[in-house]
Amino acid sequence: MRSAFSQYDSSGALRHLLTLDGLDKATLEEIFEIADSFAGVRDQTIKKVPLLRGKTLVMLFFEPSTRTRTTFEMAGKRLSADLVSLNLASSSTTKGETLLDTVRNIEAMDADMLIVRHKQSGAAHFIAENVREGVSVVNAGDGQHSHPTQALLDMFTIRKEKGPFEPLKVAVVGDILHSRVARSQIIALKTLGVDEVRLVGPKTLIPPELGALGVNIHHELKTGLDDVDVVMMLRLQHERMHSALLPSRKEYFDQYGLTTETLKYAKDDAIVMHPGPINRGVEIASDVADGPQSVILPQVTNGIAVRMAIISKVISSVGKS
Ligand code: CP
Repeated sequence: MRSAFSQYDSSGALRHLLTLDGLDKATLEEIFEIADSFAGVRDQTIKKVPLLRGKTLVMLFFEPSTRTRTTFEMAGKRLSADLVSLNLASSSTTKGETLLDTVRNIEAMDADMLIVRHKQSGAAHFIAENVREGVSVVNAGDGQHSHPTQALLDMFTIRKEKGPFEPLKVAVVGDILHSRVARSQIIALKTLGVDEVRLVGPKTLIPPELGALGVNIHHELKTGLDDVDVVMMLRLQHERMHSALLPSRKEYFDQYGLTTETLKYAKDDAIVMHPGPINRGVEIASDVADGPQSVILPQVTNGIAVRMAIISKVISSVGKS
């Protein structure tokens, strides 16, 4: 169900991308098809299409990022948009300027799209509610709430590697509690109609209320991975843990670490995914992360085409109403 503030405009076009909640299967499939059409741009001599010439995208990253920020920048450049990245460490936010004042000033520079990462859940929604007409907002990760573009590139990768979604069993393993990626992945997997979504991890890291989303919860890796097609690993987000939720990293790895041995619980041809950054030896062994079943780096590559699709779809919606 959509909240009072909608990411759609009055004509039903997707003006912002803040969450996958409320996006239907047809919309996700449309994004994958647009991403398919952009995937070949990386093989061109000149890795560019002239689609967004004259459009200005501004990256507002209030939290660290390697993959999301860089692939958004590459996506914007491949679409021929002008890209500006605000360096928060040297910006006037360090002098006490509010988020809203920062946004108003960026708007005054004629930005067409703001791509926002923030540690507060709801920050991208707040900005979207306050930007002027003609400006779009894309959520690049807000607190523990949502990371819609990561989930879309994950789904695009599953579609590419494993074909139709309906017969698939997918396990999401690790720190679900603090993961905005897991929340977006669950919505996307359910919308796309996979056969089964399993959440696997210690009781302290899986909120039991997530069971209401139609997922199966497992606290043992062996049963959680049994016969799955896709293993999606998650990092322990120590920076968001404010109390002792785990005995020790070693015990966590012993119980939930993905190794060549524990990967055997899954189907022989299961793929291993991780949104990154990976913590080797904490949630995943190096020989699995770098092994033949891993699609962790293809996820990153796919992220460029998927973010090109998202930017172009959202920006083309503006002004249609
Ligand atoms: N997956 C992800 O969001 O990675 P970054 O934090 O490096 O952007």
